[in-house]
Amino acid sequence: MTDRHFFRLDQSRAAHALRLRSATIAATGMREAVAQDGGRVGRFSCRADGLLLDYSKQRITPEIMADLLGLADESGLADGIAAMLAGEAVNFTEKRAVLHCAARLFEQTPAWARHEIATTRERLVAFVDRVHRGDARGATGRPLRHVVHLGIGGSDLGPRLLAEALSPSLPQRLELSFAANIDETEIRAILNRADPAETLFIVASKSFSTAETLFNARTAFAWMRQALGDGADLSRHFVAISNNVTAAEAFGIAGEAIFPMPEWVGGRFSVWSAIGLPLMLAFGADVFDDFLAGGRSMDAHFASAPFAANLPVLVALLGIWNATFLGLDGHAVMPYSHRLRNLPSYLQQLEMESNGKSVDHHGQLVAWQTAPILFGGPGTVGQHAYHQLFYQGTRKLAFDFVLPICRDPSPASRSLFGNALAQSAALMLGRTLDEARAELQARGLDQAEVARLAPHLVCPGNQPSTTLLLPSVTPFTLGQLLALYEHKVFVQGWIWGINSFDQYGVELGKNMARSIEAGADTNRDASTVGLLEAIEAMAIAPRR
Ligand code: F6P
Repeated sequence: MTDRHFFRLDQSRAAHALRLRSATIAATGMREAVAQDGGRVGRFSCRADGLLLDYSKQRITPEIMADLLGLADESGLADGIAAMLAGEAVNFTEKRAVLHCAARLFEQTPAWARHEIATTRERLVAFVDRVHRGDARGATGRPLRHVVHLGIGGSDLGPRLLAEALSPSLPQRLELSFAANIDETEIRAILNRADPAETLFIVASKSFSTAETLFNARTAFAWMRQALGDGADLSRHFVAISNNVTAAEAFGIAGEAIFPMPEWVGGRFSVWSAIGLPLMLAFGADVFDDFLAGGRSMDAHFASAPFAANLPVLVALLGIWNATFLGLDGHAVMPYSHRLRNLPSYLQQLEMESNGKSVDHHGQLVAWQTAPILFGGPGTVGQHAYHQLFYQGTRKLAFDFVLPICRDPSPASRSLFGNALAQSAALMLGRTLDEARAELQARGLDQAEVARLAPHLVCPGNQPSTTLLLPSVTPFTLGQLLALYEHKVFVQGWIWGINSFDQYGVELGKNMARSIEAGADTNRDASTVGLLEAIEAMAIAPRR
């Protein structure tokens, strides 16, 4: 690719205007903004293929939006999107293409990439079919009924999220379990209830060098060997998904049982690739096709919609406004759906591993805030736990409310919507001192008590949020949702001038762990040495 755009946020005219606007918006309360502008929802909302994005509760004005869109234009975003889809090396540190859109067979990506994906897909479908028909059986001749997926990070979070989201509404062909943690407690709990003769393990690791996954795979091998005996053909119980076929074979997995992952699909973007195998096994290849179709629909929207009506671009620009210009401390994602309870964990990796960077493509430290800390959980549960900080803490955050709207909602579903809307409104409007006093007076408290308590009831408000409505949780809408956030990540990385597609930082911790485990003395600081000694002593101390 040509030397990537020379855009620097700090030299941008639009960014300069936005900085000035951020100072004035700080003096404007959202209450006033909303009260003065009845057409806000119409102006600040956008639809695409059944989804509705409402950003009328963001701290924005039409002028701010115009400048944010100007920022996207100035950054050469249109060229960036075209470069990514064309397979140019937008992963500029590793000099790699970024083609997760090809993994969902999006037509605007290179034919060679789609061909590679389609070829693997044919093998996957054939394998899934053999398992479903009972042709692929375990070593003792029994059908395979339980799939245990071993992976971590991008090789785990996507299938795990989708399995949890889909299992309440779709018939499941096979039981599905996931183990990611190197803490044996997780895999042991699965093995304790699994029948070895009917269990299929998927060892999912793009690099095939991840300690946690390989440890769990070894545990599974040993458990199988012990249960089925030395003569049993364990190759019938193990398949692998990896970009490192040689390492998977060296580990003992048969070549024909290894499904390749291309180098140009990043781990945290890989749920669309062969990493979807457990979902195909559990729910059927057609269900996985619907998921891919949802992703493709978002790709088509992203590639063609004008930025002012482009969901991922809008979400990305609002995130940049909040993190970079308003300096908000964090971003909370709150699905009002039990089925989407793991969406925040998935997005944590997607956003924080992608855009938790601070060096630009010239190797210079950036002088602006990049990805905020992302966290969250199911909204109604969080309301009774940590939302207090949102209302009255000293930190300022931005929020995504994600609401699937099912057909003919039950009273419980209506309560979910009601709670979500109440939270976003209350966070925006807050409660003034006068309102606090009035509430206390209405409770019959005397004047002294009202004066004493009222300040404690004040909620400053002005906490900005976006609400995303999706029609139900289906494979298609899940595809739309995940692709929406993926494109958001790309847009933000592009404008921040960082590489969203490497993860050199995590290597430091991995290397350090290897050196500590190997007992190496290099790089040992006094604090770590002290803790190691304490651990050794505690490990042999008597227990109570
Ligand atoms: O350590 C981070 C990471 O490399 C992630 O980027 C990745 O999704 C995860 O580990 C798992 O990696 P692999 O699929 O190679 O086992």
